[in-house]
Amino acid sequence: MVSSATPIIRKETRIKGLPHGVSAEEENRLWGDAAGYLRPRDHKAWLAHFISLEFGLARLLAGWIPACGHLEWKIELPRVLFEGMQHARRLRERWEELPGGNGELPPPPAVRDFLLAIGPADHGASFVGALFHRVLPALARAYRTYQERCDTVYDAPTLYVLRGVLAEKDALIEWGRRFLEQNPLGGAVEAQAALYRSHVDACLRAVNGLVPFGRDAATPTLPANPIAAPAGPFPEKRSNDPRLKLRPDIPNEHKGNPTHGTLLEIVYHDATEWQVVDPMCEIFHGMPGMPFEFFVDFARHTWDECRHSRMGLRRLVELGYDPIRDFEWCAGADRTSSLTDYFLGLTLVGEACSFTRKKGSIPFFLKTDDPRSAMLPEVDCVDEQLHVGFGHKWAPKIFEVATGRSIDHEELTRDSRASILRSILANPGASGPAHAFMSSLDEARRNELINSFSGFCGAIEFKLDLTVR
Ligand SMILES: [Fe+2]
Ligand SMILES: [Fe+2]
Repeated sequence: MVSSATPIIRKETRIKGLPHGVSAEEENRLWGDAAGYLRPRDHKAWLAHFISLEFGLARLLAGWIPACGHLEWKIELPRVLFEGMQHARRLRERWEELPGGNGELPPPPAVRDFLLAIGPADHGASFVGALFHRVLPALARAYRTYQERCDTVYDAPTLYVLRGVLAEKDALIEWGRRFLEQNPLGGAVEAQAALYRSHVDACLRAVNGLVPFGRDAATPTLPANPIAAPAGPFPEKRSNDPRLKLRPDIPNEHKGNPTHGTLLEIVYHDATEWQVVDPMCEIFHGMPGMPFEFFVDFARHTWDECRHSRMGLRRLVELGYDPIRDFEWCAGADRTSSLTDYFLGLTLVGEACSFTRKKGSIPFFLKTDDPRSAMLPEVDCVDEQLHVGFGHKWAPKIFEVATGRSIDHEELTRDSRASILRSILANPGASGPAHAFMSSLDEARRNELINSFSGFCGAIEFKLDLTVR
């Protein structure tokens, strides 16, 4: 309450000549509860709370995607990772503008305990269902509470960020609920699913509906997770869509791949990219010690591969194929044994080697008056350029975190080629013609290949006959 004497004091007080230097404690005492305003240090705490939630939920969902045996779930859900990380990134930019240090941001204890408590569920359908029906709606309500606490002038830059995040979050929740309705993931046992749902509700109540507690509040105690045998996150065995015909190698014959050896194989190659979603989600969930920006980039990377798969599957259907009936797919059942090796192999070798084949196909599609198919490699190559850039940016850091050693990019690429060569030699069933070729080489020739970008790519890349038929 402002006293009537206050304006007089204000008028008589001169800023010049006042003693400086009250302690932070004294200043905080003078502020008291700040008449309900959020001071910059309060915003710092509120933003940290939401950044940690967005980041943690994205990582939990990534851990659950390999447990969800439905093609549509694998292709569509990584969009949620991408959006969550975009929201976290924007909030973090605002967080960095505020005073109070911009170093590491460990999750507030209530957020950490909440994420750990809701992570294990009986089934992917239970976790993702609770995400769209319980957790994300609570998060949206908590953002609204934050909005209401902001002052329209003092906090305008924060409100600007919140307005965009909230509108997109609402749209995402609506999309997610529709998606789950249209693409049910069977297999959950209702009694277990109900048990998990009520656990999530209890956890949400314990953490104030995801609205941050006050500065001096005690850390809440969360209920113990009641699921005795969780199916995730980060399962050792992945679940795949039971409708798909799976095999350990890429089909190199018409049975299993009716486009084999023709220009249209480019379309099939895009369609197959859902196969990298599980290992990429495993990396997103489990990669330790990497900076926040890595996860922002990697969420985009993962989502792009889903888009590539979608554009391939969509084009196959347009060309008269039924992707489920007509094709076989190469997908592993076990969790990636080395997250680091997978990332290095994907970005430094696999993606880096794919440009010649993809770019080369564009004029052939155009000559056959098929610009719609030509758009696949046209778009794909732009994304791949970005992904190879992510590889250059993050591979040395991933290697350093994993081994404690620094290594330059060229050496790392050579190491990755050597590791892929070893796995091709050790794995004849999964590597097809590349195995036969590599086995025919002596040690000196293999070393030459490891040191040559074009030589190695030529040996492992698909050989396409671009004859127009
Ligand atoms: Fe791709
Ligand atoms: Fe890619």
